[in-house]
Formats: sequence, structure tokens, C-alpha cells
Amino acid sequence: MSTHLNGSYLGDFVSEESILAMQEEVTKAHELLHTKTGEGNEFLGWLTLPTDYDKDEFSRIKKAATKIQQTSDLLIVIGIGGSYLGARAAIEFVKSSNYNVLKKDTPDIYFAGNSISPTALNEIVSLCEGRDFCVNVISKSGTTTEPAIAFRVFKEMLVKKYGEEQAAQRIFVTTDKEKGTLKALSDSQGFETFIVPDDVGGRYSVLTAVGLLPIAVSGMDLDALMQGALDAQKSLMQTDVLQNDCYKYAAIRNILYRQGKTTEMMVSYEPSYAMMNEWFKQLFGESEGKDGKGIFPASAIFSTDLHSLGQYIQDGKRNLFETVVVFKKPKQEMIISFDDENTDGLNFLAGKEMSFINQKAFEGTILAHSDGGVPNIVLEVEEMTEYELGYLIYFFEKACAISGYILGVNPFNQPGVESYKKNMFALLGKAGYEEEKAQLEKRLGIKN
Ligand code: PA5
Repeated sequence: MSTHLNGSYLGDFVSEESILAMQEEVTKAHELLHTKTGEGNEFLGWLTLPTDYDKDEFSRIKKAATKIQQTSDLLIVIGIGGSYLGARAAIEFVKSSNYNVLKKDTPDIYFAGNSISPTALNEIVSLCEGRDFCVNVISKSGTTTEPAIAFRVFKEMLVKKYGEEQAAQRIFVTTDKEKGTLKALSDSQGFETFIVPDDVGGRYSVLTAVGLLPIAVSGMDLDALMQGALDAQKSLMQTDVLQNDCYKYAAIRNILYRQGKTTEMMVSYEPSYAMMNEWFKQLFGESEGKDGKGIFPASAIFSTDLHSLGQYIQDGKRNLFETVVVFKKPKQEMIISFDDENTDGLNFLAGKEMSFINQKAFEGTILAHSDGGVPNIVLEVEEMTEYELGYLIYFFEKACAISGYILGVNPFNQPGVESYKKNMFALLGKAGYEEEKAQLEKRLGIKN
């Protein structure tokens, strides 16, 4: 098993008996998922993606990635939410959060269209100046405002720099197979397109072209990534809650939630896991946070955040639990050197591996937090490779679906995401929103 759940730091909050008592609910959730009879069952394509993915498109993704690598210093990936987080998380997890500034023979990869900040967009625009670049615009709906604004800017830049025909060779579009503005535009302008399958929602889409094209451009091994996911698909099938760590994780989350532990802090001791935390937050937040229910997904990187959030976790409101993802092997090692002066008093660590010290920080922290009334779930993973990542992605996706069904929500819709968009369009004066505009402006005290 590639991701192993260690439940020894759950204290008195969760016993083996209490996990076993969840068996019936877990089995029911499993059946809803696998017989496709639960709410949101039109979005279950991710469940069998590791076996059923489109092999022709997969090889086209690899070819497009090679073309981008050969012709560009930079790839601009335009997208937001599920059309952004997975690719960035994967690249930072396997490569580095410093990927762009490290020495490498693959293009820099910058992510745009994930905010409406003119500062952020201008910065990325200036990074393209004097350099060859391609664009991968990703939007399932093809109509999301943030990426649409950014795409308008970069498309214009490409046309100015390379001319219409060459620019079209540098634009790669990931969108719906037939619907939406982006698809229509691609067909008319001859952009190469990749598909976001109808039955895969944004936050479950990292193992489709949505994530795979940018990931491949970074030089990551797509086959190993998919193999990891495939092994997870096969090994996370059994319904026995004590044997299936994915289901056990989903069950424990719900046990803790029912005891008032309404916030989950996803924690890692590796800074390059920070974007995986963001991916996790969207996955679980959008899936579970509805109908007045849901565990609030938060995150931290330790030991960094022990110097900021540590006080609250140790001593603050007791509505938290932590899920710590621990990697047994670091990507790189460093040995603490001996210093003749020993002015910093660190010679007792001389000759020790830094990962050993990180491990002791983890052990010391988990005991302190457990003593402070914060139950800890530990997910042990061997190393930070493509294979392990594929397994972990599938593990979390399935845990999220099972956990959501246990919670009694539809884990595959996101009705709440629309409210801000409606208000924003009304306030911007989009046609058809006149009445809402007047009401909202009154509430905001805006006088015309
Ligand atoms: O999970 C979701 O559905 C959202 O976060 C979307 O991924 C996000 O809004 C982007 O949507 P689209 O891909 O249609 O541009």
C-alpha cells in the first residue's frame, strides 16, 4: 500500500470500535459510489480514469508537451480553481516550489488567470517579454471570467509577436469536447484542443488533460503518475473499513466531525507540499461545504507555521484535528556539519541528517498537539515521486467522495460558487442583470 494511515495519534477521540461502528455507513457510501446511485453520479468519470483514460489523447498530450519544450522558454497556464490547482500542485510537489528559478532544461511555467489582480497579470506579461512562449488555456465551461481576461491578453501578445498563423500553433486549449466559447474559438482558429470529460468535475480533473499537459511540460513522468493512480484504484476497493485506509480516513474524519472537530488542518513538513494543500482545500471544501454542513479545510506547513499558527493549534479553540502527510524519504539530504567554535551550540547535531531532525520535529509536535487535545491522523507516504503523487491524488479524491456521502451531501456539485459571480456581473453592468445591479448598489451605498 502506497499511502498508509497511522492512527496511533488519535488519542481518546477515535477507537478501533468507533471506526468499526462506521462500517455500515462506509459500505453504503461505497455502494452509492460504485453502483452510481448516489447524488452527483453524473460526475464519476474520475473513479475509473486510471484505467479508462483516453490513450490517444494521452499520447497527443506528450507530443504537445515536447513541442512546447522545444519551442518555448515559458509556458503560461491559464485557468482557475479545478482548472489550475492540480497542475501547479503536482509540479511543485514532484519538482519544487522553486521550479521556475532552478536550473533545468524544461520551460518555466507560470500560472495566470487565477485572480483578477492587474498586478499579478502584468507581472507575468513582463516575464514573457523577449522570450518565446506558449499558452495552455484551461476552462471546462469556457466562460469563466478570470481565465477569459488573461487569455485575451496573452492571445493578443502572441499574435503581435508571431502573427496569427504562428500564434495559433502556440495556443493549446483544454475545454469541453463540444460546448462553450473556447471550443468554438479553437475550431475557428485552429488551436489544438484537449478535452475535459463531461463526467469529471473541475476539482477531480488533475489526471485529465487539465493537469497532464502542464505536468508533462515540466518533464514529469506521466506514465508513473498514472500507474500510481491505477494502483490506488485497484487497492482502494475493499469495503472493510479497517483494511482500506482511504475509507478509514473518511470514517475517522466523520467521527471527529460529530465530536465538534469541524476544522481539518492538512499538514506537511515539506514546503513543496504547500500547493497540494491548496488542491486539497478546493477538493474537500467544494465537495463537503454545503447544506450547512462540512469540515472546514485548512492547512499548514511545519515547522514554518509552528512559528505562526503553532500557538493556536496547541492552545486555541478545540475544534481542530490535523492530518499530517509524512514522507519517509526526502528528495534531497543534507548533513549538519561540525563547527570548531560551536557558538550556536548545535554540535550535538553534527553528522546528523537534516531529515532526521525534521522527523524529530514531527514526533515532538504530534505528541504536543495530541496532549493539547488535537487528534492527529497520519498519512505515511514513501517519497515525493510521480508514482506516489498519482496514488495520493486518487486516495484523496476517493476519500472525499466517501466522506461526502457519509456526511450526507452531494460531493460533486458546487452551487455556492455561483453567488459571487452573479453579483459581480450585476455590479459590472452585464446585460440581463439590471434589477440585481440596482439592489446590490443600494446595499453597498453606491449612488448613481
Ligand atoms: O471545481 C470547480 O468546478 C471550479 O473550481 C472550477 O474548476 C472553476 O470555477 C473553473 O471553471 P472552468 O474550468 O469552467 O473555467
